[in-house]
Order: sequence, then structure tokens, then C-alpha cells
Amino acid sequence: MIVLGIESSCDETGVAIVMDGSVLVDLVSSQISVHSGYGGVVPEFASRIQLEVIGSLVRRACSEAGIKLSHIDGIAVTAGPGLIGAILIGLNFAKGLAYMLDKPLVGVDHVRAHLFSPLIEFDQLSFPYTGLVVSGGHTELYTVRSLTDVSMNGKTIDDAAGEAYDKIAGALGLGYPGGPVIDRIAGEKKNVRKVKFPMALMKKDNYNFSFSGLKTAVIKHIKQHTPGADPDVLYSIAAGFQEAVAGVLVKKTVSLARYKRMKRITVSGGVAANSGLREMFSRFKDEFEIYIPSVNLCTDNGSMVGFLGYHLLKLGIKSSIDMDGYANNTLIPQRTRASAT
Ligand code: KG4
Ligand code: ZN
Repeated sequence: MIVLGIESSCDETGVAIVMDGSVLVDLVSSQISVHSGYGGVVPEFASRIQLEVIGSLVRRACSEAGIKLSHIDGIAVTAGPGLIGAILIGLNFAKGLAYMLDKPLVGVDHVRAHLFSPLIEFDQLSFPYTGLVVSGGHTELYTVRSLTDVSMNGKTIDDAAGEAYDKIAGALGLGYPGGPVIDRIAGEKKNVRKVKFPMALMKKDNYNFSFSGLKTAVIKHIKQHTPGADPDVLYSIAAGFQEAVAGVLVKKTVSLARYKRMKRITVSGGVAANSGLREMFSRFKDEFEIYIPSVNLCTDNGSMVGFLGYHLLKLGIKSSIDMDGYANNTLIPQRTRASAT
């Protein structure tokens, strides 16, 4: 079965061709250079650029896979959560294509797509596992027993970890996105003294996260110590911030995995690209099997949507052509819906 996967929930357009669960082609068109000048994603630009690139990206994906549109057996598309304008571009495009080709359409949840993405890369990974999804919009801990049996054990009560990275990078004048640049600076000078920043909600059985206190503490520290006067100040702030974020993420994930008696841990989403986080998780590799995908599978991509869509379609799960897109499903219990018809 050949499935076309489309991801358009934020500032990347991802298109993939997935055949019987294996990725044949994965293309990503990133808008980072447009948004970086504004210090964050400008939603209006995001949807406009999604519209500009999506058609040619799908055409190129088919040509690189050596298939025609008519060879596609199903279409998987991100239905939410994310920027609703950007989501609706991908969703409406997918609907049009599904209608034209008379093929099944399946709406995929972006966070679930991240959660299952390690299965694409690691053949040896099997259920059940403790899954941490950590990105610009999400920081969530799950117990994953199958493709359809997933329970959430914790989530951020304020900022997502990636959002904290982006805001701290903004405060340090390092531009958007903040994760990769802070990651690089934090790892540059090994012997620099790391500033000790606070970690929140650290009680043993609390699996929720909070990064807003950390963010405030870092910004206060930046104001008091003016990075630039002494270059080591920047390194010690970046390394200290990274250590605090990674420390919280690793401690809570490991503690949940122990409590649930899991043998396997997965980490996915954009922040899973972080080298400090990867290193800290690797310290637990004698106790757990740790699965963290390659960087291009951590950040937003069409493969994870096509992969999950393939498995859902195989289970007979599909969506109606008048399905809705949604902006948020974590902090607002009632999903914000927008019609895509
Ligand atoms: O998964 P993703 O591409 O989009 C969302 O679903 O949010 O994640 C993007 C986020 C951004 O906040 C970015 O700063 C962060 O992932 N990120 C990183 C790294 N690479 C990307 N954060 C920390 N370290 C990195 N190396
Ligand atoms: Zn994402």
C-alpha cells in the first residue's frame, strides 16, 4: 500500500511517500529563514508559504519515488494540533487530492505522529514503551501499548520545552529557532561553569512539566549578568539552561518508566534533536532500551504522518472528507475546531 503523508502544522511543509510502512521519499521545505527575522513563527506567513510550496513538493515526491499520483492508495494528513491556518492548507490539499483520486483519507494527530515516529527508524522497537514527546508546542509523557492504546501521564502546564528554548534564545539575541543555537553554544566550552537554574514540579510522582519559572529565572540572570561583556557568561547560561531542561525531562521520563515497569523509552519531537538531552538519556542505557530517532525524524516531517497514516488505514481507520482541523488538544479540553471543507 502506498500512502502519501502530508505535514503542514507549523513552519515546515513535509511530504513523504510511504510504501507498506517503509519511507520511500521524505521531503521537507522549511520556512525558518522567513520567520527567523521576526524572532518566531508568523502564522500568516506560515500558511501563505505552505500554500506556495505544497503542490510542487507533492509532485517532486512522486517523481523521486518513481510513481504517478494514481499509484497512491491513501492519503494521510496532519489534522492538528498546530497553527490552524497552516493546518488547513495541508488538510484542504489532501482532501482535494483524495476526492480527485477517489482514495481514502486519514487525519493524523501531530503529537501521535511524533510519538510513533521512533518505530520508523528502529526495527527492534516494540510495544509497550514510555514515550516522551518534546517539541516547540508540546512536552508530554505517554504510556504506549499499541497504535491505538495510548495514555497520557503528564504534560506541560505552561510552556513547552522547545518554546522555552526559543524564548531564551530570543532574550539572548540568538534568533529563531533557539534550540539548535543554544544546543551548539552549550556544548562548545566543556569546562565552563554551568549556572544552576531551578527545576520545577520535581515531586516523585508528578509527571507534569513547567518551564515558565525556569524561563523567568534565566531572563532575570541575563539582565543581571549582561552576556557580551564576558563571553563565558553566554556559555555558562546556555549550558546551565540546557542542563536544567534536560535534567527535568530525563528524570521524569525515567521515573515514569520505572513506575510502569517499562523496558523501553522513546524520545521524539524537535527537542529530541538536542545533544545534551541525548547524552543525558544515554546514561540510562544499561537500565532501559533508549530510542531517539535521527535529527531529521525528530523535527517536523511528512514521514511520521505517512507512517502512522499507513498503519491506521491498514486497521481500517479513515476520516470523512468533511473532517475538521484543530488547533489545540492539550491545554484546552474542548478542541478549537475550524472547518476545512
Ligand atoms: O517538532 P518540531 O519541529 O515542531 C513542533 O511540533 O513544535 O519542534 C520544533 C522545536 C523548536 O522549538 C526548536 O527550537 C526545537 O524544536 N529544537 C531544538 C533543537 N532542534 C530543534 N531544541 C533543542 N535542541 C535542539 N538541537
Ligand atoms: Zn512537531
